[in-house]
Amino acid sequence: MSFRVQPPAPARPNRCQLFGPGSRPAIFEKMAASDADIINLDLEDSVAPDDKQKARANIIQAINDIDWGNKHLSLRINGLDTPWWYRDVIEVLEQAGPRLDQIMIPKVGCAADVYAVDALVTAVEAAKGRTKPLALEVIIETAAGIAHVEEIAASSPRLQAMSLGAADFAASMGMQTTGIGGTQEHYYMHHEGRKYWSDPWHWAQTAIVAACRTHGVLPVDGPFGDFSDDEGFRAQALRSATLGMVGKWAIHPKQVALANAVFTPSPEAVQEARDILAAMEQAKRDGQGAAVYKGRLVDLASVRQAEVIVRQSEMIAT
Ligand code: COA
Ligand code: MG
Repeated sequence: MSFRVQPPAPARPNRCQLFGPGSRPAIFEKMAASDADIINLDLEDSVAPDDKQKARANIIQAINDIDWGNKHLSLRINGLDTPWWYRDVIEVLEQAGPRLDQIMIPKVGCAADVYAVDALVTAVEAAKGRTKPLALEVIIETAAGIAHVEEIAASSPRLQAMSLGAADFAASMGMQTTGIGGTQEHYYMHHEGRKYWSDPWHWAQTAIVAACRTHGVLPVDGPFGDFSDDEGFRAQALRSATLGMVGKWAIHPKQVALANAVFTPSPEAVQEARDILAAMEQAKRDGQGAAVYKGRLVDLASVRQAEVIVRQSEMIAT
């Protein structure tokens, strides 16, 4: 390993981020009662331009009045290319109490985008005497965002999480699809008369995971638009978990349980990880660096792999 040790990501569960439009206050209580680890109150693309002002007021009231329990409460502001974002930050931070935990910045294209929001947040916090430092999360959903993903991951000590936003990402990249995440009909290999579907999100996901793990940020998979397709959601989430992502968005409440099921290590996976650790303990006592577990090689890398699963399950349990 490089002498520069990989920093840990924030030790909090981030299995599911449930979104709801700020212009639809009737669902806020239902969001608070859900099993999502993160709540994302939205001022951006699920709110029409004429409703932005009212949605801000709804969200300020909801931050102050609703019992959000132990949820990580996040506000998605408008992008830095709009006339709304600065008032989103100022009005909410000036008028809402300390319950808000995080601001999500959409369509981040470079580290300076995060710097701009960080500077504004820092000034409002100081002016209003807010003592709980606000966290930031970003969405990578443009060509510039993925091209500059590493400098974005390193952009601010406030940065805790980074999501891939499949729909805007596809649009920005000029991808020929209107699907939001998941399998895309025309992305397949052809061999001996059969189609084998491949994963068009794979490169962006692994780039995000690598940037996040380098800088101690939580990598998260974004939305899956077809909320009638549970198996499609599950397949996408399983691929994301396999690649190192820690959670996924829910754009409908029925997706919360699906995400939690995938991103909570199963008892069988945790038991196997513990068995591997025990096998390696025994190998160490026997003076061996490698051992055989169920007919396959395990060594010190296996210990680090098993520890990821055990740590994740212990963190979720606490
Ligand atoms: N959070 C919590 N509860 C929600 C919800 C949400 N995001 N969306 C809907 N519900 C509630 C409904 O109020 C309804 O409750 P009821 O059973 O008490 O009547 C129940 O869940 C079933 O809702 P349903 O009728 O299936 O959906 P809908 O047509 O009301 O809403 C969407 C569907 C997709 C428009 C809505 O879920 C939504 O706005 N999702 C978030 C969109 C968003 O924020 N996008 C930005 C990020 S990509
Ligand atoms: Mg988007």
